[in-house]
Amino acid sequence: MFNEFQKQCEKLAGKVEIPPKGIDADLAAPCFEAAKKEGRSPVEIAKELEAKFKKLPNLIQKIEAKGPYLNFYINYDEFSKLVIDEISRRGDKYGSADKKKTVVIEYSSPNIAKPLTIGHLSTTIMGQALNNIYTFLGYKVISDNHLGDWGTQFGKLIYAYKTWGDKAKVEKNPIEELLELYVKFHREAETNEKLNDEARAWFKRLEDGDKEAKEIWEWFVEVSLREFDRMYRVLGVKFDHSIGESFYMPMLKDIIQETLKKKVSKEENGAIIATFDDMPTALVQKSDGATLYLTRDLATIKYQKKEFRFWKRLYVVGSEQRLHFRQVFRMAELLGYIKEGECVHVDVGQISLPTGRISTRKGNVVFMEDVVNKTIEMAKETLKKKNPDLKNSDEVAKAVAIGAIKYSNLSRDRVRDMKFDWNEILSFEGDTGPYLQYTYARANSILKKTRSKPSKNPVYEEAVEQSIIKKLSQFSYVLERSAEENKPNLIANYIFELATLFNEFYHTHKVIGSDDEAKRIALIKSVMQVIENGLDLLGVSVLDEM
Ligand code: ARG
Repeated sequence: MFNEFQKQCEKLAGKVEIPPKGIDADLAAPCFEAAKKEGRSPVEIAKELEAKFKKLPNLIQKIEAKGPYLNFYINYDEFSKLVIDEISRRGDKYGSADKKKTVVIEYSSPNIAKPLTIGHLSTTIMGQALNNIYTFLGYKVISDNHLGDWGTQFGKLIYAYKTWGDKAKVEKNPIEELLELYVKFHREAETNEKLNDEARAWFKRLEDGDKEAKEIWEWFVEVSLREFDRMYRVLGVKFDHSIGESFYMPMLKDIIQETLKKKVSKEENGAIIATFDDMPTALVQKSDGATLYLTRDLATIKYQKKEFRFWKRLYVVGSEQRLHFRQVFRMAELLGYIKEGECVHVDVGQISLPTGRISTRKGNVVFMEDVVNKTIEMAKETLKKKNPDLKNSDEVAKAVAIGAIKYSNLSRDRVRDMKFDWNEILSFEGDTGPYLQYTYARANSILKKTRSKPSKNPVYEEAVEQSIIKKLSQFSYVLERSAEENKPNLIANYIFELATLFNEFYHTHKVIGSDDEAKRIALIKSVMQVIENGLDLLGVSVLDEM
């Protein structure tokens, strides 16, 4: 509904904007441009506009010239009931849109035979959230898990498995065993140069389609995916496709030729490289003929542009790969696969744990699963203390823990690094998942007590009620911006502000038994719906009780 109000303002005064905090207007039209055009002062223009409109459209209560701005104020008598009505009518679709364009979103993209680590946690969660947001806005989303299933490391792994491996052990505990074999290979190779030759030979056999090598590799892929899927299920993460890097192998020869022909790359000392004015050189093919991660990314773009005809392709990947993607995207543009801006690196900062808080398993990495399990355990303890009589407490604890992890990741500016601190993210106070879930549950407890039907024609006079109405009306505006900037944190921050306003209202206003019960119930229901819609996009579930 806020955009209806905005449209009415724009019809009167052209471009309007949301004024900065501290200015009490709901929208403001800066008069600088008109002033420049007419060679007059903006203050004068604002004054003139203020006097010009005698009869205002229904959503505008008043207009007021303030310096070089024309300020607009919402007519809450009309506005409130429209907002409440729209939310109750559209329910869990409130805020959604119908954009239709195709967006490919790539996220998680772990490497086969390696664990999902705490590093994958943020990209996986962020990617799924963007998938949810774009889908809600009516984009046709195609999600892709770009599995790292190719590369010389598989030669090492096959060799290590054939030399030291145990099939039953790998079946039972695939990632941990394979990681151990990999670590062992590197340890042994330090004193035995021959091992690297053996590994290269195995990788060559794999590339040449040797039956045994291929079977072992396929098995690595299969057991790894089984493990990944377990985590994805816990986190509510889904993909339409999981196209591994190996899929693009048959296309690489032609792509490399194309880069040469189009002078995007050149030969140097037997290798093929691409040079740039403003970036370091990129390797397209090694001198021994081996292809590379970057080349497979070029093939991915060419293939998917043709196959999916995407409007945009988003790469939700850690910021340490920033240079890689700049190089890939530039080359793809020069090759004519895409236009500038069609591929976007949605870069995500790193997460670090407070040292000593969790033991690292083999290979000195922090497993995502360990972090998640520890969070669930801690949530169980917290809930036991806070609400010993809670029904389904294990399930609730899981929802609180997963919600806390996701919310903490999604509420920060994604490019900034994050410190993962259990006490902080599980706190019931402050900008946390549990705080929002608790706010929702508290609102729900009022609904359970009321006998009133929500009012259909509410008029709100109190400032905090009006602020809540305005916030509610801005939901879709926030969603659009969050998609534009690929920043789920805008939604998280919005829900937090809404919840804060609601709690302010809750602490200062009586609902049950007050004269205003029916209209306050309408407000509470709307707040709950919007919190639910917003948290749902972040993958955080709401709880009726906690
Ligand atoms: N598998 C890679 C890694 O774990 C990430 C892949 C990112 N995506 C891409 N299209 N290059 O480092």
